[in-house]
Amino acid sequence: MSEPMLRVAGLAAGYGRVTVLGGISMEAGRSGNVGLFGPNGHGKTTLLRAVSGLLKPRGGTVRFDGHDITGMSPRAIVDRGLIHVPQGNTLFPDLTIADCLTLGAYAPRARAAEAANRERVLALFPKLGARWRQRVRTLSGGERQMVSIGTALMGDPKLLILDEPTLGLAPKIKDELCKAVFDISRSGVPLIVVEQDVEFLLELTNHLYFINHGQVETEIRPGESLAHSDIMAMYFGH
Ligand SMILES: Nc1ncnc2c1ncn2[C@@H]1O[C@H](COP(=O)(O)OP(=O)(O)OP(=O)(O)O)[C@@H](O)[C@H]1O
Ligand SMILES: [Mg+2]
Repeated sequence: MSEPMLRVAGLAAGYGRVTVLGGISMEAGRSGNVGLFGPNGHGKTTLLRAVSGLLKPRGGTVRFDGHDITGMSPRAIVDRGLIHVPQGNTLFPDLTIADCLTLGAYAPRARAAEAANRERVLALFPKLGARWRQRVRTLSGGERQMVSIGTALMGDPKLLILDEPTLGLAPKIKDELCKAVFDISRSGVPLIVVEQDVEFLLELTNHLYFINHGQVETEIRPGESLAHSDIMAMYFGH
């Protein structure tokens, strides 16, 4: 079988004296989308940050698109097409939507496709076009999330990581974002998504990792089906 786009093997990471990930393994981008779920504070975000270079791994390897990217800078990893939309709002408040999208296309491989990607982002999120010169600080939470995802798409991702893209959003705007995430997936970009909304995750992904205590406690591979109630049982431990 061919190598998956992303292969994480025995990845260790933590903060100061605290070890969060003792040696976690996963893969993504072979066929379909990958979902990560599990209780709060058990290492999902830490795993994604160690994969995309935002946190230096303490052990293990990350291979992406045929190359070892372990310990590379976030910028070098973005340049290769692995793009991470972090959890929460991490945009610079004084930038306009136009500034953010332009910055998103900074990588050399993204610059060539900048105009086409901008059109694609504005078709996906028409609201961003209507507020083109508006500063991030004046946008709603949902609009900021659209800018974050739009900025990532400007980087022309080969694999896109979304860490809780709908966290804290009201139902109507959440539906809009979920629809956009499906559109991105249908356009051919493989995704890794962390989500608390199990229905959304089951519909979007075909390969799930239940992360508990910094480890993969259960893996549900493509072709293995799982009921909502089984997932709930994992969360609540019965
Ligand atoms: N910058 C940091 N410094 C120190 N400890 C941290 C830091 N970020 C996270 N942690 C700790 O690492 C552990 C794992 O956190 P992480 O954010 O990876 O969990 P998570 O599964 O993404 O949780 P959530 O579902 O709430 O987003 C937690 O105990 C958390 O307190
Ligand atoms: Mg998290």
